[in-house]
Amino acid sequence: MKNISLIEIGAHRVVPWYFSPYPEEYTKLPVLYLCEFCLLYVKSKTCLKRHRVKCGLFYPPGNEIYRKGEISFFEIDGRKNRTYCHNLCLVAKLFLDHKTLYYDTDPFLFYVMTVRDEYGMHLVGYFSKEKESVENYNVACILTMPQHQRKGYGKLLIEFSYELSKIEEKTGSPEKPLSDLGLLSYRSFWSQMIVEVLKTTDPSVHLSIEEVAKHTAFTVEDVMHTLTTNNIIRYFKGGYVFCLSQDLLDAHEKSMKKQRNRIDGDKIQWVPVD
Ligand code: ACO
Ligand code: ZN
Repeated sequence: MKNISLIEIGAHRVVPWYFSPYPEEYTKLPVLYLCEFCLLYVKSKTCLKRHRVKCGLFYPPGNEIYRKGEISFFEIDGRKNRTYCHNLCLVAKLFLDHKTLYYDTDPFLFYVMTVRDEYGMHLVGYFSKEKESVENYNVACILTMPQHQRKGYGKLLIEFSYELSKIEEKTGSPEKPLSDLGLLSYRSFWSQMIVEVLKTTDPSVHLSIEEVAKHTAFTVEDVMHTLTTNNIIRYFKGGYVFCLSQDLLDAHEKSMKKQRNRIDGDKIQWVPVD
């Protein structure tokens, strides 16, 4: 049962998709107002104005670990910034239905992506990641705020998650189950990156599936799945070969053109904690 009719966050009004466990007294309002920087929720515009004077934040808490152009990423520890992370989970739940969000934020790190303008660093999306994942998941939950969706930010978030895995010298995969939109985005990203690797590798070099996995930080299963669903891996003269059809190359060219923004791994200032 949806319990919030509308939220106002920064310059945007957004209609929630799903239920989120905001306290009872904040539900059934015509509009729930959110401070776009600390994500505190209040009942009226006047309360928000009063709060903004006290709040003073113009960017998320935590450490800025990446900046390129107007895009930044902040790493926020779910234990050190419990209130912020809890508020972030509450917003995220408005647009995520398929999984239980963990309201105990302590075991997670949150990677918040912002876009900077003269007023501040505005939340565009985030992903959370378990500090220790037994299953080797590199993303727990991922979200692009609806007002920013379908502009390539989802793929940027995904790319960033794999860049962190590369620094950790691990392969990783998102936590299951994936939502329909999550699956679409990941499939599109995996194909785009794998075609890129194959296209830029000298054809005389023998490339194994494990090497593709190592190069991309995708798990062998995700590489294998992408290769088979795109009909890239084929049986030929008693062995397996990679084959990129013209259609696939054309589609690849198109999506690379669309994806203007890319993560520059060298700009990530981050070391994994042991
Ligand atoms: N309809 C059709 N295709 C879509 C749609 C849509 N509404 N949204 C995204 N896609 C596909 C497109 O194919 C696009 O690839 P393309 O460039 O080849 O066209 C690809 O997904 C990625 O698009 P982006 O613009 O980079 O992604 P976006 O910023 O919209 O974010 C995300 C994608 C994060 C999944 C977003 O839709 C979202 O936040 N959804 C709600 C929360 C959610 O479902 N999160 C994933 C849950 S799974 C998990 O957390 C592990
Ligand atoms: Zn605030």
